[in-house]
Amino acid sequence: MPEPRVIRTPQEMAAASQAARAKGQRVGLVPTMGALHAGHLSLVDFARPLCGLLVVSIFVNPLQFDRAEDLEHYPVTWEADHALCAAHGVDAIYAPTAAAMYPQGFQSKVRVEGLTQELEGAFRPGHFDGVTTVVLKLFNAVGPHLAVFGEKDYQQLRVIQRMAQDLDLGVEVIGRPTVREPDGLALSSRNVHLSPEERKHALCLRRALDRAQERVRAGERGAAALRAAALAVIEATPGARLDYLEVVDAQELTRLTRLDRPARMVMAVWMGKTRLIDNDALN
Ligand code: PAF
Repeated sequence: MPEPRVIRTPQEMAAASQAARAKGQRVGLVPTMGALHAGHLSLVDFARPLCGLLVVSIFVNPLQFDRAEDLEHYPVTWEADHALCAAHGVDAIYAPTAAAMYPQGFQSKVRVEGLTQELEGAFRPGHFDGVTTVVLKLFNAVGPHLAVFGEKDYQQLRVIQRMAQDLDLGVEVIGRPTVREPDGLALSSRNVHLSPEERKHALCLRRALDRAQERVRAGERGAAALRAAALAVIEATPGARLDYLEVVDAQELTRLTRLDRPARMVMAVWMGKTRLIDNDALN
C-alpha cells in the first residue's frame, strides 16, 4: 500500500481535493481526533470503495473540550495512526496544526440550536459549538462528497447531519454502527484510561441497553419502564455515576413517553474519572 500523503494546511488540502474532483473522483472524509481504533477503521473501510480520494483528518480539537483535564489526557498516537491509515488504503491524512485551524484573531463559531441543548449538550457546555465549528472547517478544506461518522456519538451525528442540511453543505453525512469489544464495550479512545476494575464495570452501559431491549422484545412500550429497567443496571454497578439516561426520538432527540416511532436509548456514565457514552436503537 502506498503511504498516505500528510497535509498540514487548509490551502494544501483544498488544492488536493480540487485536483481529485477535476479528475472526476469522489472525495470522502473520515474526521477523527486520532488514537485510531477498530471503530475508526470500520468507517475508513466503509468509505474506501466509495471514493477516489479518501481523507482521514486527525486533529485534537481544543474548541470542543469542556474540561482542560480531558484535553490534556487525550491520547496521541501519531505513528500508530499513520501506520493504520497506510494499511487501510487512506490516500491523505489531513492533520492541521492548531495554529493553522485557529490562527490569531479567530472568533467565529457555528451553532446548531435545538438538537444541542439536551443530553451531551446539557452536561458539556460549548462542546457541540466546538464540534460543528471544526467539522465545518474540515468540510471547507477537504470539500468531501461524503463524510462518515460513528453512531457511538449519536447526538454528534444528528447535529452534523442537521448542520449539513441547514447550511446546504452538499456533503452526504453517513452514520455507521458502533464497533464493540467482544464483551460489548463500545470502542472509544478514552477506554485506555479505565483501570482493570473500571473496565469490568464499564460493561454496565451495554448491559443496560440489553436490559431495555429485552423489555421491548417482551412487549414493553412505555419509555419510563424501559428507562427504569436500564437505570437499575447502572445503579447496581459499583463506581458507576450517571450523567443521563433517556429514551429519545431517533431523529429529533426529544424525550419520548412511548415507543411510537423510531427510538434510541442514549446514556452517559462516569466510571471513576472516565466518562463513557453509549446508545442503541430500541425498536
Ligand atoms: O468524533 C470525533 O472524534 C470528533 O468530535 C470530530 C468529529 C472528529 C470533531 O473533532
